[in-house]
Amino acid sequence: MIAPIIRTKAELRSMVKGWQKAGEVVGVVPTMGALHDGHLSLVAAAKAGCDRVIVTIFVNPRQFNNPSDLENYPRTEGQDAQKLERFDVDALYVPGPAEIYPDTFATTVSVAGLTDVLCGAHRPGHFDGVATVVTKLFTQTRAERAFFGEKDFQQLQVVRRLSADLDLDVDVVGCPTIREEDGLAMSSRNLLLSDRARVKAPALHAAMVEMAEGLRAGGSAFRLAEAAKAKVLAAGFTEVEYLDLRANEDLRILDRPEGDCRLLAAAWLAGVRLIDNIAV
Ligand code: PAF
Repeated sequence: MIAPIIRTKAELRSMVKGWQKAGEVVGVVPTMGALHDGHLSLVAAAKAGCDRVIVTIFVNPRQFNNPSDLENYPRTEGQDAQKLERFDVDALYVPGPAEIYPDTFATTVSVAGLTDVLCGAHRPGHFDGVATVVTKLFTQTRAERAFFGEKDFQQLQVVRRLSADLDLDVDVVGCPTIREEDGLAMSSRNLLLSDRARVKAPALHAAMVEMAEGLRAGGSAFRLAEAAKAKVLAAGFTEVEYLDLRANEDLRILDRPEGDCRLLAAAWLAGVRLIDNIAV
């Protein structure tokens, strides 16, 4: 069934009120559209864990620190609605900008600490934009559960933190990264890669897998990262912003695996910024 497309928070509110009155558990899958199988796996998880599922599509201007990145971000609402058809979701919430940021809007949600490193260090203001819009989407949908991909691991940890700190009472569920057959993590940004760049793109994941093996064999993350970065650059990437071993919980940098930890990377290929992470 094609999900009803809801464009105002008033309409959304009255729909959700009815569900909650009936004691139904409402889940939300926040997205910026250009849906791929990674998003659809979040929708499937939401369907399995909730009575009602809302998918949101809002290309959030406040999380883009580069105007051309915002302009080029793929917008595919019609195709997205079709992809959701087989999941029978209860609402596709596609708010206009004024529903999220009315003219009088003056509040920023900022999560300290976790956002100082990795993407936060390279994209000033990005996580303030994410934290602000996610808070709005949580309060507008009144969802009890929210589904996010582990591919954006730092984002997942930031959202968990803000949900706990602001007592939003939303259970934030992290879902595994979905990959193409050659290992490339699925991302809406992959649509921006030329055919030539697409062939080179899996080199990032391959270098990370090799680095993880080196870590398991007792190597130093700082040293292994240098070799891994050189491989990524040799494969045709133009810049590796970071390739770090970090603790899951607080994202502190590590030289050796310790507790739950993962490799996280961001790198540029043909003008497209790709990120990835794998557990070690
Ligand atoms: O991961 C995304 O697509 C976005 O950062 C999110 C969580 C929908 C907020 O705009």
